[in-house]
Amino acid sequence: EKIPCEIFSNAKEGSRYAAKEIAALIKEKQSKGEKCVLGLATGSTPISMYAELVRMHKEEGLSFRNVITFNLDEYYPIDKDAYQSYWSFMHRHLFDHIDIDKANIHIPNGELPKEAIKAHCMEYEQMIEDAGGIDLQVLGIGNNGHIGFNEPGSSIFSKTRLINLDNSTRVANSREFQNIAKVPRLALTMGISTIMKSKRIILMAWGFKAQIIAKTVEGDVTEQVPASILQQHNNCTFVLEENTASEL
Ligand code: GLP
Repeated sequence: EKIPCEIFSNAKEGSRYAAKEIAALIKEKQSKGEKCVLGLATGSTPISMYAELVRMHKEEGLSFRNVITFNLDEYYPIDKDAYQSYWSFMHRHLFDHIDIDKANIHIPNGELPKEAIKAHCMEYEQMIEDAGGIDLQVLGIGNNGHIGFNEPGSSIFSKTRLINLDNSTRVANSREFQNIAKVPRLALTMGISTIMKSKRIILMAWGFKAQIIAKTVEGDVTEQVPASILQQHNNCTFVLEENTASEL
């Protein structure tokens, strides 16, 4: 089953489209007195979408008081305060600029000792469940088809856990670090099954990802291309830049 795609002339247009849908959901939930549970992603892809949400907060009064967030992943080990941590990324690009209640922010904790990780991952799953599940999950995609940090081979049944980063992912992400040796070898990530339980999924992709997007949208569903499992989600849309959709 092909994944539905919305195609835009550039990343800015696509980001606006995604931000609009998220804002509409937040407001709809607000009008019913309900919480809105968002699953959030990092990487270069969602930066302009977060900028648009911040603009909507500042210029249009969009409030995040009813929003609960769960981030997909975090490097391990890493200090929250490190510039490269996803904790820092999220505060820098979104949380520091909106009216979200800090108690409603959840990001896997890269600071815990190894022996505490298993319990932490189970607790993360439980917190998502206790919040009522994720209403809308934002995703990017890695060049090898990873979502979150679910590298090729990740089971469709996988939950939040500690994983080994692929070498290709460490190389791709080394631009954020001084050099490749400084990129952590491990990460915490929601699992494929955690992601698949979201009620709605928006995956954004811009730039040079046409091949992996074509494989994901139209190719076989396989654990070797983790994002291809999204073909089996009943409410998932890909938001793409024209160039990125060129192999479809
Ligand atoms: C990172 C993140 C993913 C992200 C992907 C693509 O490693 N863990 O959540 O979607 O790789 O990154 P970018 O958006 O910078 O291309």
